[in-house]
Parts: sequence; structure tokens; C-alpha cells
Amino acid sequence: MDVFVQTSLSFNNSTFHYAPLIKNNVDKAIQPYYVTDFGALFDGDCQDILPIIKDFSIDTVFADPPFNLNKKYGNKSKDNLIETEYLSWCYKWIDECIRTLKPGGALFIYNLPKWNIMLGAYLINAGLTFRHDIAIDMNNGFPIPGRLYPSHYSLLYFTKGKPKTFRKIRTPIEKCRHCDGDIKDYGGHRKSMNPNGVNLKDIWTDIPPVRHKKFKSKSRKANALSTKLLDRVVELTTNPGDIVLDPFGGSGTTYDVCEKKNRHWIGIEIDFADEIVERLTYKHIQHHNNNDYVE
Ligand SMILES: C[S@@+](CC[C@H](N)C(=O)[O-])C[C@H]1O[C@@H](n2cnc3c(N)ncnc32)[C@H](O)[C@@H]1O
Repeated sequence: MDVFVQTSLSFNNSTFHYAPLIKNNVDKAIQPYYVTDFGALFDGDCQDILPIIKDFSIDTVFADPPFNLNKKYGNKSKDNLIETEYLSWCYKWIDECIRTLKPGGALFIYNLPKWNIMLGAYLINAGLTFRHDIAIDMNNGFPIPGRLYPSHYSLLYFTKGKPKTFRKIRTPIEKCRHCDGDIKDYGGHRKSMNPNGVNLKDIWTDIPPVRHKKFKSKSRKANALSTKLLDRVVELTTNPGDIVLDPFGGSGTTYDVCEKKNRHWIGIEIDFADEIVERLTYKHIQHHNNNDYVE
């Protein structure tokens, strides 16, 4: 693959000036692997890279860590820690994320409800402000004997004090796929409803799984989120020019969405930096259709 990889701190006018976000006296060997007009990607362990980011420098953090389900990601990450170790590992990167957030900045953590209960309690004890525990409906779960059918992921949304940015999102009024009629009668108030849609709820039933090959990286096929989920996170809590940090890059969904929406980003990925570079260079991975209306 022939891609532009920036390996020094010299800039030209078109690349993202990430240096103001990095603490002084950081080991000069720690350099981004790749820099675009909007963001900088570090190839490494977020537990090593997060500490170099300055306090109060980030507008929104989005984190989609491994869920400790014994999945095989790459060679360098572990997904089978004992429960207390997994939580301590999470608390460590969470502390760093909180430190880097600006006052009023937003922190999102996408995980299984089982872990997010613990991580949410940790965030409350750390003094963050609870906003929502968003349920993301999933259609790809498996029934588990003796249990309810697991059918949602949890997306925690906290802020560092009073939110500094909260943009109102409306989702389209739901239509029947077959007859194109409204699915609900809205208590007889349909005519007076806002034509741009209804207020975004804290249950998201319209986030598609990343199944079709046109939405995913050829060399990193699993565990990619829909661009639609990231569209919402980014639009809800940032304005163009703001800075988003995602410490678990995966296939680079967050960074791709930020590029499209003129947000800056800082990325970290331990095993798949090349796949992210490929995605951002060739822009060959399609985004899911999204008809949200942002006021
Ligand atoms: C669930 S995936 C993230 C998927 C991503 N949100 C997307 O849409 O493509 C988690 C990613 O975190 C990476 N990872 C695991 N441990 C890490 C660490 N300590 N530092 C940085 N990245 C890590 C894994 O390699 C994996 O790609």
C-alpha cells in the first residue's frame, strides 16, 4: 500500500496541527503514524498514548473498547482478562479521557450493559454528569439458555459538568415500508408535528449492523460500528472544528465520520493502524444512509 505517513513534527499548511494538543516534554519518539487535514492517528496502546494528550483539550471522547468476550482482534490486544482486571484496565483509560476533556465536554462509552453499569458508576464517582444511557438495538445477538434474549448495547453519555454543546437532532417520522403510511397516529396531533421529524430518543432502533462488504474494510471485517451511530455522537456534541478523541480506532469509523463532518480528531489503534490509513486515504468504505435533521 502506498500511503502518506507523516513521521515528523514538521507541518505544511494542510495537515492538522496536533502539536498544541500534546503535552510539552513528551518523548519525541512518540509520533503520529498518520496525519490528515483533520486528524492524527497514533499506532499504539492507548494506555501509553493517552497520557501525552494535554488536559482540557478535547471536546468529545468516543470509546468502543473490546468487550472482554475473548474475541480475537489483533495480536497485541487482550480480550480475556479476569473481570476485576478488565474493569481496572477500563478505569485507567477512562481517567485519562476525563482528564483530557474540556469543561462541558462529552464522554461516550459503547459497551455491553454488564460493563457499562460498572463504568457508569465509576464516572459518577469521578464527578461526571450523567446525561443518558442510550440503548442501541441490535439484531445480531444469540439467545442464551436461561436468560432473556440480549438485544441491546449500551452507549453511556456523560459530560464534564454542564454540557457545552448539545445540538438538537430530529429523526424522520417513521413510515411503513410497504404502504408508506405513518406507523403511529401521534394521538391525533400528526398535522401539528414538526416536518423535520421527532426528537431523538434514548433508544436507537435504526442503527444498522455493518454487514455488507461496501461498508467494511477488506482486511478488518469484524467489530466495525455504523457511521450512523458516529454521525449522531458527533452531531449531538460537537461543532465543526471541534476535536474528537477515540482511543480504540478499530476500522476508523469515528475518524472517517469526523473527516466528512469537518471535525478534528485524535485516534489511537493498537493493531489496525494500516487499515485505518487505507480507509482514510482511499475513502472506499461507504457511509450508511442517515436522514437525521440537525437543528
Ligand atoms: C471494538 S473495536 C473498535 C471498533 C471501532 N469503533 C470501529 O467502528 O471500527 C476495538 C478496537 O480497539 C483496539 N484496541 C484494543 N486494545 C487497545 C489498546 N490498548 N489501545 C488501542 N487500541 C486497542 C482493537 O485492536 C480493536 O480494533
